[in-house]
Amino acid sequence: MAAVATRLRPPLLGLIALAVIVATAPSRASAQLSVSFYANTCPSVFDTVRAGVSSAVTRESRMGASLLRLFFHDCFVNGCDGSVLLEDTGSFVGERTARGNQNSLRASMFSVVDGIKAQVDRACGASVVSCADILAIAARDSVVELGGPSYSVPVGRRDARTASLDAANNDLPSPFEDLDILIRKFRNKGFTPRELVALSGSHTVGFAQCRAFRTRIYTPGADLDPSFAAARQANCPATVGQGDGNLAPMDPQSPNRFGNNYFQALINRRGLLRSDQALFNGTSTDDIVREYSNDAGAFSRDFANAMVKMGNLMPPSNSQGEIRLDCKRVN
Ligand code: HEM
Ligand SMILES: *[C@@H]1O[C@H](CO)[C@@H](O)[C@H](O)[C@H]1NC(C)=O
Repeated sequence: MAAVATRLRPPLLGLIALAVIVATAPSRASAQLSVSFYANTCPSVFDTVRAGVSSAVTRESRMGASLLRLFFHDCFVNGCDGSVLLEDTGSFVGERTARGNQNSLRASMFSVVDGIKAQVDRACGASVVSCADILAIAARDSVVELGGPSYSVPVGRRDARTASLDAANNDLPSPFEDLDILIRKFRNKGFTPRELVALSGSHTVGFAQCRAFRTRIYTPGADLDPSFAAARQANCPATVGQGDGNLAPMDPQSPNRFGNNYFQALINRRGLLRSDQALFNGTSTDDIVREYSNDAGAFSRDFANAMVKMGNLMPPSNSQGEIRLDCKRVN
């Protein structure tokens, strides 16, 4: 390169430099998020979201887990762009009816997000913060509110003007999937198996419905503790259609406390979802589960880093985006 450069005359060098700059200019796909993005336009955004999350979790302790999951379901479908929040209308199909969302995402979660958006807009005197950023901040604040690790949340995302039901159906993991499928779905989003295990540690908080774990607790095997199965069966009838919505904690010890008990539950063959137990079932991820169960600090670090990485998932570069006025619909 240096040998070539010495033979080029300065004007030509300048042109080449310009071409390189244009070619590498940030597209939406690699847009740089920054913690200070709203420093001038909405300096109180972080305080306002934190206050909103805190009061929502005080009202209902499960809401922290629900907001964390909502962010995951946003980011895994064409990037973190608020697409999961969009409601279906006569002429618009959103993602709310996707397999992983329907009968699972609750109206109260969307109300909480709408409430926080309204508070942020009021605090800053204008609608300048995207719904996608509010979700990203709220997910972090939920983790902290429940006693988990904190991390910085870079912001500057834009809200999608589209959604994809197909992508939601294809890209969101299902609780019935095997480890190789889970690994593939996370690899498709740029995550390693270790990051899959760390992010699945989110199941240290929150609840699942009978419909999501019925098959597992009625399928005896070496991967299932029989006394755990019996306890769960008491509140989850075998018959499909009965008690489908009955809840069980994914971390039996402390569903409202973010910690690493979840991993010990997996080692004890007490993973609630089949997809949980798949992480500890005689394969290469067993060692990671053991490590996280023994080392809460390693889990916290890896989890926080993976959350920031998840927040970097961007929509396709041809989508311009907008700052939505109402998180439920495009402007
Ligand atoms: C590894 C693949 C994953 C699968 C198959 C999966 C599946 C599920 C299922 C089926 C539920 C229960 C939903 C219901 O019954 O209504 C659930 C709950 C939850 N998931 Fe996951 N999940 C996965 C990964 C993740 C990740 C990566 C996160 C966050 C980073 C996450 C966060 C949560 C939380 C916090 C809850 C509790 C929600 C609540 O109580 O409202 N999950 N997940
Ligand atoms: C665990 O492995 C066994 C044997 O390969 C398999 O039959 C079972 O379905 C697996 N369980 C989970 C939860 O992946």
